[in-house]
Amino acid sequence: MKMYAALKSIASYVPKNQVTNFDLEKQIDTSHEWIVERTGISSRFFASKDENTSDLAVKAGKIAIQRAGLKHQDIDMVIVATLSPDYLTMPSTACLVAAKLGIINKPAFDISTACTGFIYLLSIAKAFIESGGYNNILIIGAEKISSILDFSDRTTCVLFGDGAGAAIVGRTNEKKKSILDVHIAADGNYSNLLCTPRNTLQDQAKQFLQMKGNEVFKLAVKTLASDVENILQKNHITPQEIKYFIPHQANLRIINAVGNRLNFQDEQIVLTVQKYGNTSAASIPMAINDVYESGKLDSGDLILLDAFGGGLTWGSALVYFDGRR
Ligand code: ACO
Repeated sequence: MKMYAALKSIASYVPKNQVTNFDLEKQIDTSHEWIVERTGISSRFFASKDENTSDLAVKAGKIAIQRAGLKHQDIDMVIVATLSPDYLTMPSTACLVAAKLGIINKPAFDISTACTGFIYLLSIAKAFIESGGYNNILIIGAEKISSILDFSDRTTCVLFGDGAGAAIVGRTNEKKKSILDVHIAADGNYSNLLCTPRNTLQDQAKQFLQMKGNEVFKLAVKTLASDVENILQKNHITPQEIKYFIPHQANLRIINAVGNRLNFQDEQIVLTVQKYGNTSAASIPMAINDVYESGKLDSGDLILLDAFGGGLTWGSALVYFDGRR
């Protein structure tokens, strides 16, 4: 019997400290109106000084394991996507997370694909599961982006937030319960548009995130619209058959531009950017979890995901949710 990879659970963790646009107005030359009009963002959450990316990841990971009806002993692999790892070079955040969850003697590694992290995670986990050698893989997108934000640069610091989203990728025999298709891509020719330019360990002054927002915006709309159209066409699925379109939550205007091109109804489009800001690799699983916790995501629902981020990287996925209540 053919065996497919499936999204068995979803979970998230949001740090306690909510920072509104009005709070930022007190620190930098910006306004609530500008941020909402240009991005849709009203607030974001920042982790505390003693909370690291791995701590956020562990909190989401624990819930994902439990919601899949599993124990830590059942997890065969841990993969973390992050652009704000606990340590610059090593150990990987995934190794720290696995240890904190009691998962040892199993592979654990990080991937670096910025905001496209969760789509890449799905693609990697699907390949490992469908190779037959693994049963349950814990994937986590986790970020403490506040630790790499330049709070004197109003063009970037208002956009991002911290958080973690986790999922278990396991097995199913039913295609209509599976991770149906994932497409991932990159073009490093655009690497300078979105980066932390510290390219040597000595170069301390350039450790903060920088972005040419306008150019990224235009490329994101163009690339995502065709990426999403392609994955639907390839799988003979119409936008009407999608229960939820759950894009990376970077900017309301990017989401609406892609959503309108595909003629999605408002109730199909999931929006969390207004309260969480852009949480990079964590944004898609955090958004899926919001729908799940609101009681509106059922087993068998078909969701469409897309993301675009530093690298540049991008991708999309068609997933039948296979989680339980
Ligand atoms: N408050 C007030 N004014 C501001 C602020 C601010 N926070 N930031 C910029 N401005 C000003 C600028 O200085 C500029 O002023 P000027 O006209 O006098 O020069 C004006 O607002 C317009 O600036 P733009 O950069 O052109 O604004 P834009 O409409 O492009 O919006 C934004 C900027 C929100 C960053 C947008 O370009 C965007 O969302 N880009 C895409 C982001 C994205 O998707 N990134 C990918 C994922 S992120 C990742 O991978 C980590």
